This record gives sequence, C-alpha cells and structure tokens, in this order.
Amino acid sequence: MIGVQALKELNPAVNQEQTASGDLHQRRSRAVARGVSSMIESYVSSAAGGTMTDVDGREWIDFAAGIAVTNVGNAAPKVVAAVQAQVERFTHTCFMIAPYEQYVAVCEELAALTPGDFEKRSALFNSGAEAVENAVKIARHATGRPAVVVFDHAYHGRTNLTMALTAKVMPYKQGFGPFAGEVYRVPMSYPFRDGHTGAEAAAYAIGQIEKNVGAVNVAAVVIEPIQGEGGFIVPAPGFLPALAAWSREAGAVFVADEIQTGFCRTGSWFASTHEGVEPDLITTAKGIAGGLPLAAVTGRAEIMDAVHPGGLGGTYGGNPIACAAALASIETMRELDLPAAARHIEAVARPRLEALAAKHPVIGDVRGRGAMLAVELTVPGSLTPDAVATGAVARAAHESGLLLLTCGTYGNVIRLLPPLIISDDELDRGLALLDQAFATAL
Ligand SMILES: Cc1ncc(COP(=O)(O)O)c(C=O)c1O
Repeated sequence: MIGVQALKELNPAVNQEQTASGDLHQRRSRAVARGVSSMIESYVSSAAGGTMTDVDGREWIDFAAGIAVTNVGNAAPKVVAAVQAQVERFTHTCFMIAPYEQYVAVCEELAALTPGDFEKRSALFNSGAEAVENAVKIARHATGRPAVVVFDHAYHGRTNLTMALTAKVMPYKQGFGPFAGEVYRVPMSYPFRDGHTGAEAAAYAIGQIEKNVGAVNVAAVVIEPIQGEGGFIVPAPGFLPALAAWSREAGAVFVADEIQTGFCRTGSWFASTHEGVEPDLITTAKGIAGGLPLAAVTGRAEIMDAVHPGGLGGTYGGNPIACAAALASIETMRELDLPAAARHIEAVARPRLEALAAKHPVIGDVRGRGAMLAVELTVPGSLTPDAVATGAVARAAHESGLLLLTCGTYGNVIRLLPPLIISDDELDRGLALLDQAFATAL
C-alpha cells in the first residue's frame, strides 16, 4: 500500500505538508471499520475513460476498472445521461410493489445477449453475491436437491452462503464461520499447475463428485468460466463443456458465474461462449451497469419459473436508476463494439506481458483472455508462489501511478482489468509503468 510520504516524494503536486488524501485517511481511520481496507491511500476526486484523478490532483492509469466494473469507462457519457434522466423521473418504487419498464427491458437484453437460443427468464438483484445466492436457491427449488458443487480457487462472494462457495480462507472467510452446508469443493483445471488436459481434469472432478456427493444429490454445479479472484485461471479446453454435459446428464443445473467475466471483458459478451457452453443459469453483475449496483440471474425459463411467485426478490433489486444505467451501458457496449475492444487490448498487452516474462524469470505464466490478463509469479524454475515479489511489484506500480490489482489463492498473480474503452495511449502508458514496476521492485 502506498504511504502518504511516498506519495509526496513521488509527485510534486502532492508535495505539501498535509495532503488532502492524508487528511481523509485520518478521518477514515476514526470512522470506517478496519475490516474494510483499501488498496491505495489516495482518495478519488474524479475518474473518466482509462484514468482516475485523486484529491491531490495526481493522475492514475486505471488497470482495475473498480474490479472489472467500469467496462464502459467511468462516468460513461450515455450512462451519466440515462441516470440523470431516470433520477428526475422516479428513483424507486420497488419492482415487487409497482413495476416499471426499465426492469423488463434489462431482462429482455439479458435473454438476447446471454448464450443459448432458448426461452429465458431473469431476476434482478443488487450485488454479485446476491445473484449467486439466488442462483443456488433457484437450482435447489427446481431440482429438489440440496448439494452445490464448487471448485478449488473459486470466488463467489462474501455473504454466508457465498463464503461457503468461495475457496480462499484469508481474508474472505477467516473467523466468519460456521458456513452454510451442502457445499462440496472439487479440483479445478489449472493448466499451469496440474498439467492436465481439460478432459483429464474434468474426469477427475466428476469422479470426486460422483464418489463424495452422489450425482442424484447435486442441485447445481457453480463455476466461473475463467476464475477471477482465484488467479485468472483459464481452465484447459474441454473442461467446461465436459462439466456442463455431465450436469445435464445428472439432472443438475450448470451455473456459470460470469460476474467478473461477463459483459465483453474476455472478448465476447460472455466467457462461456469461447467454449460453446450454454449454461442453464448465468449470474451477472459488475460490468452490467457501468458502475451502478445491479446483478442478475438469467436462465432457462423452466428452471427460473420453477420458483413460486414471491419466492424471489428484495427491496432494491432492479432499482430503476441501476436499470437505466445498465441499458445505457449495453447500448455503449454495442455501439463501441467492446468485445472487439477487449480483443484489441489482448493483442496489444499479451505480447508486452510475454516480453516482460522473457526479462523476468519470476513470471512463470502469462494467461487470460481479452482484457482479463494476468501473470503468475513463482520462484524461477518452480511452481512455488512468490507473493513477496508480487506485492513488491504492485506497490511499485501504485507508487508510479498505476492502479493495479493482485489476486490468486497464493497472492502471487498480477492481473490487468482495464476499462474496455481505455485509449491506446493510456494502455501503452500503463504497460510501460508495469514494466518499470518490475524493474524497480525486483
Ligand atoms: C466471479 C465472482 N462472483 C461473485 C462475486 C461477488 O460479487 P459482489 O462483490 O458484487 O458481491 C465476484 C466479485 O468479485 C466475482 O468475481
């Protein structure tokens, strides 16, 4: 984490006795719970396109997009206009009390955009975790079965049920148990570490499910098509289709958690498409609404409609302002062809990451898809995670003005999640700062 002192030394704009960020940080330490931490100590003043400016006037290149949220950029013009127009018409009625068109229109868009040419229904919520919880509720109701299968390295949220689905203990689960039951974890395909083909990894995972859970007990198999917080792990080809096929045969609901991968991030609207997988249910959030809180469960009509009227909902789910933002975001994604933009980011950034790996043997793997790219740091020539080097690179990046996230079960992955509208110049500057961060830190 960057210290205020380091900030002052690095940036003349903040080289004053007391920075505005420093003041805010002191207020924060007296008012905000310690459990809610921040990656940097600079406070945001404004953000647009691929950059952010802090309250001390320092500019940052944004390789975080608020954790894969502002795919259309921060304060995207259409989103701003739609939110302003909606806020003047009405702010909230609760869709369960007095419905409105914006909610229906978002569900229509979700049906059209998600993979699968079958009849679909959607239900809207506020956060990714809430969407995942509801996908499990729906799958259990539709199948009448209890068990939920999840994977090593999975991240599905921080509520009680989604903590149980999430793999990593520290910081997400430590001290927060007991957790929800009937959750079973099986091995994930992790090509860099297991060296298995997709078919081999799937056969092993399926064997574990059949042996330890029993196919007839499985309500849902929940998986991120590319794991996010777990380390940007792209399963070997064939792994996802094999699990989807097994779920179909077993009568279990195959749930793709596309909360981080969805809405153009990986170079197509949804990552399941890369392997021709048509999930029974898809959970979405993050990129859907350009920064406003909105989430959804979308899926086969017969599964979604198995739930009785009144069985799903919540006060704010599908709030009209968030729906207006989602419709404007989706329009922006279409107009600017953001799947193509994500592929362009990969075309520019992947060779730069590979060149970085050639220079720094601590980079053991370069992986990802579209604008969801990562490098995994290991002790050279081994699979031993190097979280210390990873932290040092991230800190050096922050000190130079690059907003950069780490992830991974072992804390040894550096991930790139730029807004998809980032300009070539901003992308180039960000990659140069990353290069410099490796050179400084190692
Ligand atoms: C794949 C995945 N699922 C679920 C979640 C939880 O979403 P939220 O933080 O909106 O509850 C996240 C958040 O990072 C995620 O990446």
